[in-house]
Amino acid sequence: MKKDVISILDVQDRIKDLLRIAAEIKKKHNDGEPFTPLKGKSLGMIFEKPSTRTRISFEVGMTQLGGHALYLSPKDLQIGRGETIADTAMVLSRYVDCIMYRAFKNEMMVELARNSTVPVINGLDDREHPCQIMADLLTIKEKKGGFEDQHLVYVGDGNNVCNSLLLGGALVGMDVTACTPKGYEPNEEILQKAKAIGKEKGSVISLSNDSEEAVKGATIIYTDVWISMGDEEEKERKLRDFKDFEVNDRLVSLASEDVIVMHCLPAHRGLEISASVIDGPHSVVFDQAENRLHAQKAIMADVMQSRFKSH
Ligand code: CP
Ligand code: NVA
Repeated sequence: MKKDVISILDVQDRIKDLLRIAAEIKKKHNDGEPFTPLKGKSLGMIFEKPSTRTRISFEVGMTQLGGHALYLSPKDLQIGRGETIADTAMVLSRYVDCIMYRAFKNEMMVELARNSTVPVINGLDDREHPCQIMADLLTIKEKKGGFEDQHLVYVGDGNNVCNSLLLGGALVGMDVTACTPKGYEPNEEILQKAKAIGKEKGSVISLSNDSEEAVKGATIIYTDVWISMGDEEEKERKLRDFKDFEVNDRLVSLASEDVIVMHCLPAHRGLEISASVIDGPHSVVFDQAENRLHAQKAIMADVMQSRFKSH
């Protein structure tokens, strides 16, 4: 079976191994030791939405692993002229060894993966952002030494990043609270799944609508944009509904003294996070961004080395 990474649940049986391998790959890189298991392999990257971190970290990651990445915009592909995602998947599978896809709709992600005979990695859709959360977990492990005594409080919109954080936190045994305004809670099915995994792994997964109450004692505060790509028409309503959900000095002062503050970026200072916090001593956002590279190298090496071509 090919190894797709559409949801963070797709790596649930090997999440801790992947994090350990990512740390080893990072060390090799920092020691200047080449690690090129993907020589001669190619990654096709389809982006329906803009990207800074995902595009650059995947492309650079493939080069460092000895392979090659191609940036594919739907505007330039025949998708723009009506070729289906299924045909695109079947054709790309004959050329490349893995496809990374950033999609508006999770249904399109699933359709691409169903029709592709090479592994598909989700580079963000409207449901999940698994590669981001692998980088975040690597960052938490580096900063906190592990997950067991950690309580991550996500403050903001119950979006793709929040969904994957609930699942990822539950899988590694970390307590996670999603604190959102009423009506902006994370996906219900994902929440129930995360709670069930949490029960098994000994972590508490919970919801809150009160940011000051939720962050009390938090060891990690995480936030993301209020308006995700594709949600722009909700902007005005959201700006009103989210006004008490800025991660600012007051909120940080209620958390644990050694709290770290995380954001997947891009950030909007003065909206979901104050400049004083994102540029302040608790912030680890650029370490997080760097770890996209190392975490994704581990994922790519894993799915491409063992790939099985069925056509
Ligand atoms: N965090 C993240 O995925 O950033 P980009 O949108 O820049 O890829
Ligand atoms: N939730 C954001 C994440 C960006 C990396 C979005 O989907 O736009």
